[in-house]
Amino acid sequence: MDRKQQLLRKIADRQAVIGVVGLGYVGLPLAVAFAQEGFAVIGVDVDPGKIDSLSRGESYVEDIPSAVLGPLVEGGLIRVTTDYAGLAGADAISICVPTPLRKTKDPDISYIVNAADCLATHLPPGNGQLVVLESTTYPGTTDEIVLPYFARNGYEVGRDFFMAFSPERIDPGRTDYTVRTTPKVIGGVTPDCVDVAVALYGTVVDRPVPVSNTATAEMVKLLENTFRAVNIGLVNEVALMCDKLGLNVWEVVDAAATKPYGFMPFYPGPGLGGHCIPIDPHYLSWKLRTLNYTARFIELASEVNSHMPDYVVTKVSDALNDERKAVNGSRILVLGAAYKRDVGDVRESPALDVIHLLRERGADVVYNDPYIPTLRIDTHSMSSVDLTSEALASADCVVVVTDHAVYEWEWIVTHARLIVDTRNAVKSAGDARIVRL
Ligand SMILES: NC(=O)c1ccc[n+]([C@@H]2O[C@H](COP(=O)([O-])OP(=O)(O)OC[C@H]3O[C@@H](n4cnc5c(N)ncnc54)[C@H](O)[C@@H]3O)[C@@H](O)[C@H]2O)c1
Repeated sequence: MDRKQQLLRKIADRQAVIGVVGLGYVGLPLAVAFAQEGFAVIGVDVDPGKIDSLSRGESYVEDIPSAVLGPLVEGGLIRVTTDYAGLAGADAISICVPTPLRKTKDPDISYIVNAADCLATHLPPGNGQLVVLESTTYPGTTDEIVLPYFARNGYEVGRDFFMAFSPERIDPGRTDYTVRTTPKVIGGVTPDCVDVAVALYGTVVDRPVPVSNTATAEMVKLLENTFRAVNIGLVNEVALMCDKLGLNVWEVVDAAATKPYGFMPFYPGPGLGGHCIPIDPHYLSWKLRTLNYTARFIELASEVNSHMPDYVVTKVSDALNDERKAVNGSRILVLGAAYKRDVGDVRESPALDVIHLLRERGADVVYNDPYIPTLRIDTHSMSSVDLTSEALASADCVVVVTDHAVYEWEWIVTHARLIVDTRNAVKSAGDARIVRL
C-alpha cells in the first residue's frame, strides 16, 4: 500500500490522529468536530492560558459549550499542549492560526510561517502526513510559503506527504449552519492531495467541494469575504445617500428585499468588525498590488466602511446639538462593544473607534456589553457598567452599536432620553428621541 492508500485507510477506520494548530474560533470547533467523529485529536496552541483552560475542559469559544468539550477532553479524545512535539504522531494537521494585517494594512503571515516552521521541525519528514492550511490568506500562500518547509531533502508532495488549503467558513454565533452542514472548499497541491483532504474533511462535513488547486481555494475565501465587504460598503453609502435625501435606509432595504430574485439585502451599520471582513480583502488587494493592479472595489469599500464610525459620531453630535448640548462634557452610554450581536469578540469592532472618537471630543463615555466585561481603548481601560434605568436616564445620549439579543429595547426606550441607533434595533420610540443611521 502506498502512503495515500495507508492514510485513506486510517481515515476510513478513524485510526488517523488529527492535529489542530491554533485553538481559537476556527481551530477549536474543528478539533471538537473530529473528536466527535471518533478521531483522536491533538491540539497545539502557543497561548498557555488557553491550553490551561482547555485541559480543564473549559471552553472560551461561545459556540463550543464546556459541556461539549469537557467529556471529549476527559475521555482523552482531545489532548492539548503548547508543545509541537506532541504532533509527531499526527497523520493529518490543520493549521488555524491568525492572519492579521500589519499597521500598513499589509498581510502579516508570520503566524503561518511560524506554524509551518515548527511543524516541519517536529513531524517526521515524508511520513505520509496531510497538512492543511485553513487560515485565510492570499492566493499562492500554501504553495509558495508553506510547501517549501516540507518539500525538502528529496521529499515529494503527493507521494511522501500531502498538502491542501481549505478555508474555514465558520460564522461565530450562527446556529442554523454547523461545521457539518457548511460545505467546505478544498484545493490540493496535487490531485492525490485533494483526494486525501476530501476524504478527511468528508468525515466531518456533509459536502466537501474540491477545486483545481490551492490558489483557487485561497481565492474562493477572499471572494466570499470581499463580496460581503463590498456589499456592506455599498449599503453604507446608500445610508449616507438616504440621509441626504431624508429617507429611511432601513425601510428602503427591507422593501427592496421583497424582490424574490436578483437582490440580496445587506444592512448598514457602524462599520466593519471581526477578524475577517475588515481584513481579508486587504490580503487580496495587497497581492494584486504586487502584480501592478489596483483592486478598486476593495479600496473603495474599505474607505466607505472605515468612515462609518466618524459618521456615527457626527450623528451623535448633531443629535446632541438639537438638544442644545455639546459632545464635550456629555455623558454617552454605548450599548454593545462586540463587533456583532451575541459574541464576545471585540477584534476590529467599530465600537472601539466610536468610543475613541467620542472621548477625543471630550465626551464622558461609558459602555455596557454583557459579553465584554472590560475594554481597552488606546491606553484607557474601561469596565462594562450595569445596564440600569439610572444608567440609561443619566446618559445624555445612548448609542446602540451592537444589537445583542439580550437587550430589552422596549425597556431601554422607556428610560433613555436620546438614542442614536446604528442597527435599527429600537422599534418603538417610548419616551426617547430616536435617531437612526
Ligand atoms: N473567526 C472567524 O470567524 C473566522 C472565520 C473564518 C476564517 N477565519 C480565519 O481563520 C484563521 C484563525 O482565526 P481565528 O478567529 O480562529 O483566530 P483566533 O485568534 O481565535 O485563534 C488562533 C489561535 O492560534 C494561536 N496561535 C497563534 N500562533 C500560533 C502558532 N504559531 N502555533 C500554534 N498556535 C498559534 C493563537 O494563540 C490563537 O489561540 C484566520 O486566518 C481567520 O482569518 C476566522
